[in-house]
Amino acid sequence: MKYIAGNWKANQTWVDVEAFGRELISALNTSPLPQEVELIVCPTAVFYSEMQHLVPRWPVKLGLQDISLQDGGAHTGEVTVKNLAGIEPAYVIVGHSERRRDQGETNAQVAAKVGRVLSLGACPIVCFDLEELADLTVKLQPYSGQNIVLAYEPVSAISTSGAAGNLEPVLLQERLVQIRATLPGEWPVLYGGSVKADNAAAYGALCDGLLVGGASLKAESLVAIARAFSG
Ligand code: PGA
Repeated sequence: MKYIAGNWKANQTWVDVEAFGRELISALNTSPLPQEVELIVCPTAVFYSEMQHLVPRWPVKLGLQDISLQDGGAHTGEVTVKNLAGIEPAYVIVGHSERRRDQGETNAQVAAKVGRVLSLGACPIVCFDLEELADLTVKLQPYSGQNIVLAYEPVSAISTSGAAGNLEPVLLQERLVQIRATLPGEWPVLYGGSVKADNAAAYGALCDGLLVGGASLKAESLVAIARAFSG
């Protein structure tokens, strides 16, 4: 299986979501993606349930962008395992660098969230930068036989980070060797960081899929990435 996952972050209005769906259907109806490519969209949690009603007509899987460490109960504003029973998200992103930056999430918390996501029967998409790799892999050891997807996202390559910019594919290749040698499981590894249609083939040839932020907000652009990736 190969993965193209769109992380909408805190973007989109409901009008944008409906337009996304219309464009997605028209882009894929005439020419579907290869079956081994799983197209995933992770909207903000407020849109999730409404999108579930649309998705039987959209050729995508849905994911969430985070999960609470609380089980449920008196925790204002959290989206917990208890809330998600019966919702059945297919994927949940955990450990995104923006949550590590804004909420101070640690690898221990990220690993605990992986456990929460697995308990829902969903697949965690676990984000990390290289400096987190060694410690994170130790903390993920208890899940080594489980269905997990990793996403290597150098913070400096994320389009909104204001930092140096794109990672050269040759560097990604070197880093993936290091990453795969360190992981305790045979987990797929995605790449994320300023992925666009014009670099998706170069990055995609090296890894198991792509995690896309800004370029996932329009269906046309996400589908162009998926087509470039799948050749
Ligand atoms: P970007 O974001 O594609 O806009 O760089 C990727 C991410 O933060 O997951």
